[in-house]
Amino acid sequence: MSAPKLKAPRGTFDILGEQALAREALEARAGALLGAAGYERIETPVFESTDLFARGVGESTDIVSKEMFSFEDGSGRSYTLRPEGTAPTCRAYIEHGMHKRRQPVKLWYLSSFFRRERPQDGRYREFWQVGAEAIGSADPAVDAESITLLATLLTQMGVREVRLRLSSLGSPEARGEYRERLQAYLRANEEALSAEVRARIDLNPLRAFDTDHPGTREVMKSAPLLLDHLEQDDLEHFAEVRGMLDDAGLLYEVDPTLVRGLDYYTRTLFEFTSDALGAQSGVAGGGRYDRLVEQLGGPATPGMGWAAGIERILLAGEAQHFAPAPIELFVALGEDGEAARRAAFALLVEARSAGLAAQMELGGRSLKGQLGQASALGARYVAIVGAGETALRDMQGGGQQTVPRDTVVHAVLRSHHEI
Ligand code: HAM
Repeated sequence: MSAPKLKAPRGTFDILGEQALAREALEARAGALLGAAGYERIETPVFESTDLFARGVGESTDIVSKEMFSFEDGSGRSYTLRPEGTAPTCRAYIEHGMHKRRQPVKLWYLSSFFRRERPQDGRYREFWQVGAEAIGSADPAVDAESITLLATLLTQMGVREVRLRLSSLGSPEARGEYRERLQAYLRANEEALSAEVRARIDLNPLRAFDTDHPGTREVMKSAPLLLDHLEQDDLEHFAEVRGMLDDAGLLYEVDPTLVRGLDYYTRTLFEFTSDALGAQSGVAGGGRYDRLVEQLGGPATPGMGWAAGIERILLAGEAQHFAPAPIELFVALGEDGEAARRAAFALLVEARSAGLAAQMELGGRSLKGQLGQASALGARYVAIVGAGETALRDMQGGGQQTVPRDTVVHAVLRSHHEI
């Protein structure tokens, strides 16, 4: 009886073939774009202390209250597979004393994240994000630069039917006052609200804007809006950000009901969606988090950033064909036996040390099969190695010549330069 087949867990996936190549291309684009804008790569651990997310992302959020993969390490400490990258990046900023560097410190990452959500198209339990965080400056130009870079990345990746929604949350103090106003309004209309929203009036009243429940939606149409209750300097900050986005020619919609599922935001808040996606239409989101570093035990330091879902970028992107780069030399076995195999292997090693993309026959194929394999790999040349003689075949120009084996690499390199 054969062993039972195992599958990857629900909501996770393998990355292979064209998918792996598409992701490599995305990573290269993001690296070039963000690198040129002064962002340095950062990778933080896959798991962190649970406390980091509880304090950073917020106890009342869905992420912390129901979606974390947490575990104990045997000594009573609780750790969590990272559900997002902003809190870990700020933790690293503090831990490495980055406030002593020139500000803002700009960091980008491309990593996998974990949330215990109900899997569906575009929503996974392990997913990947590319993210960028600029920490240490409150300048509205940081917001505009950050959002513009993300818009450029999405355009470069061919993401279709993109929409940008923008809002401002102001300071936590102004939000506190507004919160009370909203709570009073929600209580006055309690009977029309969904049970979930009703249960969260105290904890997270803003979530009432983010619901499909018809009764709640109706009530929220006349709800007081945070944007109408911002302080003067927050309004000015928001106006400056909008002005710069206008100058950059970026289209956006100001949406005072925009809500994001993380508690650390202050001031600018935004989300990119794509109408080319289904229910999970959020491609990217971010905003300012001017209190987060301090909340995590660092000096008072403003921050601004975003993260974009890699799977959703690829789902909403124009279909592109990715193929592995063709190789330059395929070393085929002209005859059986150890002598030919060792000569072939030595030639392979020599070709690689000379910098050629080379492969050798490893599948026990007939000569015909080997030539088929070479052409499937897009090989420019095939060296057919025997114990004595070696023939060099030009797969593009046609033609085959017997040559001394020690001239093969030179010949391939020379033709390479002639092209
Ligand atoms: P977020 O909105 O939770 O923000 O996630 C950003 C993006 O990650 C989403 O727009 C979506 O494309 C993708 N994403 C989230 N959850 C899933 C999932 N379960 N499956 C597939 N894709 C998913 C953050 O994580 C913040 N840290 C962004 C940020 C950075 N804010 C400031 N700096």
